[in-house]
Amino acid sequence: MAETWNAVDRWFTERLGLADETLESALAASDAAGLPPIAVSAPQGRLLYLLARQAGARRILEIGTLAGYSGICLARALPADGRLITLELDPRHAEVARSNFRRSGLEARVEIRVGRALDSLATLEREGSAPFDFCFIDADKSSSAEYVDACIRLSRPGALIVLDNVVREGAVLLESSKDASVQGVRRALELLGRDPRVEATAIQTVGSKGYDGFALAWVVEPRAAPEAGGR
Ligand code: SAH
Ligand code: DHB
Ligand code: MG
Repeated sequence: MAETWNAVDRWFTERLGLADETLESALAASDAAGLPPIAVSAPQGRLLYLLARQAGARRILEIGTLAGYSGICLARALPADGRLITLELDPRHAEVARSNFRRSGLEARVEIRVGRALDSLATLEREGSAPFDFCFIDADKSSSAEYVDACIRLSRPGALIVLDNVVREGAVLLESSKDASVQGVRRALELLGRDPRVEATAIQTVGSKGYDGFALAWVVEPRAAPEAGGR
């Protein structure tokens, strides 16, 4: 089946024109630098773009930059004065991403912060800057729950949070797994299910990235109170 999933993704990508020169050259630079081939697929990247665009996002937070592939998709959804802050642990990855953002002409909208995402998130909270409209979580899966929690705190009501790789070929079901990634994703989904600050779902996917999936969480926006004395 994996071959069919791949072929269908390729066909969608061609028919819908999802792989332009900028994205192709970002991937080529990533491969040439020896970075792992784990960026979102072209259709997934376009989904991120569409969601951020539909949300009218002006400030986007990404956790896990790699070579900037998903970051380019997200930054393209921003207005010219919008901002993508993307967090990356590995300075080599950040360097490749920096040059990819430069080549894409989006660098003015993008800020890469190098370091452990948990530290960068704590710094962002301390800075108390404007809340985010959209978050994409795609770094080490072991800290997924902490990332979700931090993203909720850093987001405005009505913001959207996307959490990548929540299925991993069904490994998410392995309750007593010794794999920290599995446990991290399980804790993240448990948090999304019980936290009154969000309404969430999770969707399984197949494609060029195998059998996986993502969770989508909406930061609850309290409904306007009914007018006093209204009848
Ligand atoms: N979002 C990217 C793919 C990210 S891959 C895309 O779709 O194009 C995951 C990235 O998270 C890797 O670059 C890895 O170095 C980074 N990462 C892993 N642990 C991290 C941590 N603790 N803090 C920040 N980044 C981390
Ligand atoms: C891996 C990480 C990802 O973010 C992804 O989308 C696919 C694979 C990995 O670490 O193997
Ligand atoms: Mg991913």
